[in-house]
Amino acid sequence: MTDVVRLEVQGDIALITVSNPPVNALGHAVRAGLLQAFQDAETDSRVRAVILICQGSTFIAGADIKEFGKPPQAPSLPEVIDTIESCSKPSVAVIHGTALGGGLEVALGCHYRIARKDAKVGLPEVKLGLLPGAGGTQRLPRLAGVAKALDMIVSGQPISAAEALEHTIIDELFEGELAAAGIGFARRLLDDGRGPRRSGEQTRGLEGADNEALIRAKHAEVAKRMPGLFSPLRCVAAVEAAVKLPLAEGLKRERELFVECLNSPQRGALVHSFFAERQASKINDLPADVKPRAINSAAVIGGGTMGVGIALSFANAGLPVKLLEINEDALLRGLQRARDTYAASVKRGSLTEEAMEKRLSLVTGVTDYGALADADVVVEAVFEDMDVKRQVFEQLDAVCKPGAILASNTSSLDLNAIATFTKRPQDVVGLHFFSPANVMRLLEVVRGEKTSDDVLATAMAIGKQLKKVSVVVGVCDGFVGNRMVFQYGREAEFLLEEGATPQQVDAALRNFGMAMGPFAMRDLSGLDIGQAIRKRQRATLPAHLDFPTVSDKLCEAGMLGQKTGAGYYRYEPGNRMPLENPALAPMLEAASREKGIERRELEEQYIIERTIFALVNEGAKILEEGIAQRSSDIDVIYLNGYGFPAFRGGPMFYADSVGLDKVLARVRELHARCGDWWKPAPLLEKLAAEGRTFTEWQAGQ
Ligand code: 3HC
Ligand code: NAI
Repeated sequence: MTDVVRLEVQGDIALITVSNPPVNALGHAVRAGLLQAFQDAETDSRVRAVILICQGSTFIAGADIKEFGKPPQAPSLPEVIDTIESCSKPSVAVIHGTALGGGLEVALGCHYRIARKDAKVGLPEVKLGLLPGAGGTQRLPRLAGVAKALDMIVSGQPISAAEALEHTIIDELFEGELAAAGIGFARRLLDDGRGPRRSGEQTRGLEGADNEALIRAKHAEVAKRMPGLFSPLRCVAAVEAAVKLPLAEGLKRERELFVECLNSPQRGALVHSFFAERQASKINDLPADVKPRAINSAAVIGGGTMGVGIALSFANAGLPVKLLEINEDALLRGLQRARDTYAASVKRGSLTEEAMEKRLSLVTGVTDYGALADADVVVEAVFEDMDVKRQVFEQLDAVCKPGAILASNTSSLDLNAIATFTKRPQDVVGLHFFSPANVMRLLEVVRGEKTSDDVLATAMAIGKQLKKVSVVVGVCDGFVGNRMVFQYGREAEFLLEEGATPQQVDAALRNFGMAMGPFAMRDLSGLDIGQAIRKRQRATLPAHLDFPTVSDKLCEAGMLGQKTGAGYYRYEPGNRMPLENPALAPMLEAASREKGIERRELEEQYIIERTIFALVNEGAKILEEGIAQRSSDIDVIYLNGYGFPAFRGGPMFYADSVGLDKVLARVRELHARCGDWWKPAPLLEKLAAEGRTFTEWQAGQ
């Protein structure tokens, strides 16, 4: 027996226990251990039934993702599951935590499944660019029906144990201790004379529905809703094999499709995204013994767009939060906005009325700073104006208890300067939420010069409490995300002067996989935001760092985007569908004329390189300056805050996969033709010359 899988015989029941922290992933040792344990249980004449349980916080959470792309090592998971399923003695998987991917497939290989009430089960492989490759696409439809199996496999979303019971994926729910529940269930099986019941031999899920129609409908839905993704259509094809082929042939087809996915570049990018997100929570230079401060209550200053969203994020996490505004009127508006936001969720059906009231009861409106004396963390979200920030932080310094975290949601002001408005700069940190703050997962945690280690650790812990993906960034104009997106947006505008239309640029970037094109995005957030930033930057930027002018012209004409019915596009009242804005074409032609540019047809690839490589070049500077800890952190920011396609792994990973030498050649060309702002980042030059990637690079090397 291996260390990670133990077999123990208690009377006539074999207890197989997997112990491979942290998530009992099915690495080589676990697969070999499971194979051996089930073979031993089969040959041990004392054994009449087998139960499979896992130690630690969860049942098996899937294949070991770190092994993907490495040479396969026997036994393969399908081989292990085949042995489990063909065992002549009834077996029971006892599920707690999350039975995911290969974990659920192992459970489906067992003859019966019971789950603790709080457990979840799912096949999330599609999120890693894969499909369930160890029988999941063949066995799940046979148990749960084709419609449910397609939903679970194509969405990758886990379901609750109760829902799994409803769909006969699970036989029974239990509470309490795992081994006792498993042994109890196995004992009943033996008493009732029930033997093996193999999922692969079941037919009930395949009967009574028009499965071919379900497959066709899902195929059409995936083709429409997930364009550009490699694995979802193959998920559908694998389930189709379950419908049309006998088990053995279906399993063979599943394997072929799985290997296609495994070898696709999208799998590499999505696995990178998975680990990048987990890596982002680690702070390189933080001593291991640093303890975060306890956070049991919060306060937010400013009940505008961001303040309300941030307050709701705290309430969603079950934390009491005070919302402070300048006067009663502004406060009432803020509280109403909070109620309206929840009411919209109730209307959509994503929140119950009861949950809304419970969450709203956690939000208390105040106008007096004295009410903030006991808050563990205060997040400031007032106007983006240094004088206003000064007033707020001076008052916070006067009233907040010692040890309270004083955070600013500023998106562009100098956090180090804000910290000087207090006598406790070590307690000041940036918590840069993204709009809408109650929805967007990204949180940039801004580490000021004086931010103490435990405040930084607490800020990361707050992010976790709020279920955000938190990334540590340093202080600079725009931090990581906005500093880069500024370059991207500017290049998009230059493309308009060269000959493109907003429609062409947006379509090229959507085809690349961006959730939204840059111009549709600007129309959504309002063109005046960019104008304010440009005004501020024009005062300090060297003259040669020219700005395109079309956006300014639109602002001058009062076309600020969706909110005014026109911007880069035109909008019918009450409709967000972007239509052509007839006022734009003459503005574009005038802008080209003014700069002496002859408008020309632009190729899609050129549009993509001009904008995405602008992100990459700025990202390289950010990395070298130490504003981001690692290139994968930049990827996490773009994947979670800017709609960058996960199947490309983020801008830095994308550049790595294109090849930094090729990226550099293009950047040099743009530098020579467009202007000095395209000067290649020294780090890009260095890595390209050394044949290395951003992902491999560590600061100081
Ligand atoms: N393989 C290897 N490592 C894994 C892993 C896996 N399947 N799942 C999680 N880990 C690692 C994480 O990288 C992390 O490592 P770190 O501490 O060094 O950063 C550690 O386990 C803990 O993970 P989380 O921080 O994510 O812990 P949570 O408690 O928040 O979440 C979880 C636990 C829900 C299990 C989550 O980790 C998860 O969703 N894991 C991935 C599950 C998955 O995708 N399974 C399918 C794999 S593909 C497959 O099975 C193919 C098969 O069909 C052939
Ligand atoms: P907003 O204008 O919608 O709201 C600001 C609110 O602050 C107003 O309700 C105002 O009454 C209140 N306020 C002003 N001075 C105050 C004071 N002294 N005390 C208490 N309340 C006061 O602004 P928005 O968009 O919510 O931005 C707030 C902050 O968040 C800014 O620093 C901004 O840069 C930042 N931010 C904005 C994002 C966005 O997309 N809007 C994204 C990320 C950060």
